[in-house]
Amino acid sequence: MHLHRKFKFSSIDDLQTALDNMGIYLPLSDDTEVLKQPLQISSKRIPNRMVIHPMEGADGDEQGRPAELTRRRYTRFAEGGAGLIWFEATAVVEEGKANPRQLQLSKDTAKDFKALLQNTLSVAVKKYGSDRRPYTVLQLTHSGRYSKPSEKPQPIVAISNPHLEGKISAQKRIIADQELEALEDRFVEAALLASEIGFDAVDLKSCHRYLISELLSAYTRKGPYGGSFENRTRFLINIVEKIQSQPACEIDVAVRMNAYDSIPHPYGWGVNAQNCHQVELSEPIRLAKLLRDRGVNLINISAGNPYYNPHVGRPYDFGPYVPKENQLYSVERMLKIARDIQEVVPEVAIVATGFSWLREFGAACAAGGIREGWFQLAGFGRQSFAYPDFAKDIIDNGKLDRKKCCIACGKCTELMRLDGVTGCVVQDAGVYRPIYKKLREGKPSLVGKEVADHV
Ligand SMILES: Cc1cc2nc3c(=O)[nH]c(=O)nc-3n(C[C@H](O)[C@H](O)[C@H](O)COP(=O)(O)O)c2cc1C
Ligand code: SF4
Repeated sequence: MHLHRKFKFSSIDDLQTALDNMGIYLPLSDDTEVLKQPLQISSKRIPNRMVIHPMEGADGDEQGRPAELTRRRYTRFAEGGAGLIWFEATAVVEEGKANPRQLQLSKDTAKDFKALLQNTLSVAVKKYGSDRRPYTVLQLTHSGRYSKPSEKPQPIVAISNPHLEGKISAQKRIIADQELEALEDRFVEAALLASEIGFDAVDLKSCHRYLISELLSAYTRKGPYGGSFENRTRFLINIVEKIQSQPACEIDVAVRMNAYDSIPHPYGWGVNAQNCHQVELSEPIRLAKLLRDRGVNLINISAGNPYYNPHVGRPYDFGPYVPKENQLYSVERMLKIARDIQEVVPEVAIVATGFSWLREFGAACAAGGIREGWFQLAGFGRQSFAYPDFAKDIIDNGKLDRKKCCIACGKCTELMRLDGVTGCVVQDAGVYRPIYKKLREGKPSLVGKEVADHV
C-alpha cells in the first residue's frame, strides 16, 4: 500500500524508482525539445505545447471586470512564454458566478476584456515576437451548484445529489428546462462577444461539477436535459451547434471537460457503475467524438471536484483531508485518461492536466507524454501561479528550476475558500502572503489531517 506522502524526489531517477516500485508508468523524457514545437489548430497556430490552465484569481470588480490583480496575473502569464493562455472561468450571467469577484462577460464589461486581451498579447509579442503570439481561450461558465454571486451561496443545481449536499440542500434551486434553454443563448451571446473581442476560442466549461459538468451526470433528472446520454449532453451540444451556426462568429470552440468525477453512479460521470474509484470512459469518449464531429478541435481534460474530492484533479501535499492514495496514482490516472481520449480522437488537440505536483519533473512528464502520443498539449495550473515563466525556462534551459516551483501546499485554494483574492502564497509571497495571513487570523486551518471517508 503506497500512502499519500509529501513530495520527496531529488532526481528523475529517484522518481523513476518510486514509479517502478509502485507499478506505475509515466512517460518521462529528459529531452524537452518537443515542448517547443508549434501546433496548428483550425487556421491558427499555437507556438509551443505549453498551456497555462484557466486559473481564477477571484479578483474582478463588482461588475465582473478584470481589475488590477487580474491584469497583473495575465501580464505575468504573457511574459512567461506559454503557447496557449486559457483565460479563467468567466460567468455568462450574474447568478452563475462562483464568487462575487468572479469575472463576468457582458456587453458592459466587453471593452475591459478587450483591454485585458490586448495587453496580454502585446506583452507577449513585444517580448517574444509575433511568431510566438499565444493562442487564447476564454473559459465561459455557469457555476451551478457552486454559484455564489454575493455573500451567501445561491446553488442552482441540475439534480439533487446526496454525495454533495450537506448544508446546501435547503437553499438549492433545481434549474428548470426552460431556464436551461434560455441559458444556452446566454453562452452563445458571450461567445459572440468573445469573438468580437478577439479571443481565438471560447471554452464551454464542463468540469469540476459546475453546471454543465453536473448536467453530464444528470441520470436522475427527468425531461429533455436528463436521463439518456443524448439528453445529458444536450445543453453542451446545443451551445456548440448554436455558436457554430452564427454567421458572424469566427471563434473556435473548445471544451474543458471532466472525464472522471469519482462520485458514485448514478451521480458521477466517467465512473464504473459498481465502483466509482474505477474510471469508465465510454461516455466521455462518446462525447469527445460528438464534439469532434461538430468541429471542436481542442479539449482540455480534467477530473474530480475541488470542493468534494480535490485530490483527484489537483494532487497535493496539504489539502482539506488526507487522501487514501499516493499522489503518483492520482497523476497517473489523470494522464492515462487524457491518453485514452487522445487515442480515439487524434484530430483533436487534447490538453492534459496533472503536472504541477511533479514539481520540476512536470517538464519531463509533459515532454514524454507528447512524444509518446498521450496528448498534444500540456497544461499547468498551480505551477503557472507559482512559476508563471515556467515555459520560458523550459524553452531557454530545457528544464524547470526546483526553487521556483509550486509545492502543492494548497494555500491558493484555501485563499479562495476564505473568500479572498488568490494567487501563490509561497512563490508570489509579496502580494499574496499578507492577504493570506490577514484572512487566516483567528481561524482554524482548512488543511486537514484526517483520512477522508468519502473518497
Ligand atoms: C486557485 C485555483 C483556481 C482555479 N481556477 C480554475 C478555473 O478558473 N477554471 C478551471 O477550469 N480550473 C481552475 N482551476 C483548476 C486548475 O486549472 C487545474 O485543473 C488544477 O489546479 C490541476 O492542475 P495542476 O496540478 O497543474 O495545478 C483552479 C485551481 C486553483 C488551485
Ligand atoms: S499557494 Fe503556490 S505553492 Fe501553494 S499550491 Fe498554490 S500555487 Fe502551489
